[in-house]
Amino acid sequence: MLFVDDHDWRSKQRESAGWEAFAAERGELHYEGVGAPPVDFVIPHIDAEPWATYAKSFDQLCAGLDLEGKVVLDIGSGRPWAAKQFALRGAVAAAMDVNPHPVVGVGRGWEMAREAGVQLDLFVGDSEKIPIADASVDVTFISAAMHHTNFLRRLAREMARVLKPGGVALIANEPIRSVTADEGDVLLTFAEPELRHGITERRPLTSDYLHAMTTSGFVIENMFLGPDTRTDEELLARISAPVVAPAPREWLSTKAPRRFARAAITRWQHIGVEFDARRALPKGKGGVRRTRLQRHAAIYGNPDINLVARKTGQ
Ligand SMILES: C[S@@+](CC[C@H](N)C(=O)[O-])C[C@H]1O[C@@H](n2cnc3c(N)ncnc32)[C@H](O)[C@@H]1O
Repeated sequence: MLFVDDHDWRSKQRESAGWEAFAAERGELHYEGVGAPPVDFVIPHIDAEPWATYAKSFDQLCAGLDLEGKVVLDIGSGRPWAAKQFALRGAVAAAMDVNPHPVVGVGRGWEMAREAGVQLDLFVGDSEKIPIADASVDVTFISAAMHHTNFLRRLAREMARVLKPGGVALIANEPIRSVTADEGDVLLTFAEPELRHGITERRPLTSDYLHAMTTSGFVIENMFLGPDTRTDEELLARISAPVVAPAPREWLSTKAPRRFARAAITRWQHIGVEFDARRALPKGKGGVRRTRLQRHAAIYGNPDINLVARKTGQ
């Protein structure tokens, strides 16, 4: 256990308790001494969501990476399935989470490692204050945990600090919100149970993630949307209509100035996000139309995004 029991950590203990209460509500705390669901030994490569999606993005992020002997840190690991996968691929793997729980937290890793015949370094810690020396890690990995902080840049800076120069940050399965959507509305639609249990939930814009990384010493090498948004139809279903300026006759309405202001702000945000997304999104095999749709989904939609970022410097 590597944490300092200070004021910051108290809020993380509440976060951890929230995750346990959330899992209990869903009937996922099967732990009775030793028994936990054997599915933990095969995730994420199973035919059920969200794992099937996680497996695809994980495999895509790792494709072409030589992990043999590399030090890899899984941040906000939950059950440390990703750290185990890294260890199976020859890495020296560590996993960290605020939640030590033996079924739904990083504590589950002892059984997972034993079953897989690999060694994992498991510890409790805060992603905003990672208890690891500077420049000691080759790869950081974070899956669906970056949107559980109120301080994206603090987390990005911590990833940059622990990475060696030239090291890689892999970011997987992070949900975004459309620039036209209200964050509170999105959270109430998609994360009401988590909020009820006191879990920190955010829905950053694509540009918030990109900005946090690029201002913390990273260059973005790749960005792709969740594998559940590969076809044009799936992408279109995820794209919400952009806010438009009022039509001329609507100017008689008292709501017109507010709508106009909202449209102007949205347009302004859009320019920044589109610029970032245009640079980061690779030209897909689907051709121009697919690429434009992906760009729009990353701005106006609510898919998950995946990023590969490299720490700059020698
Ligand atoms: C949605 S789960 C994702 C777990 C795992 N990465 C996965 O993909 O299955 C989010 C995890 O982030 C952890 N978490 C939340 N805030 C954290 C923090 N400040 N530091 C470390 N872990 C945190 C939670 O305990 C939880 O296990």
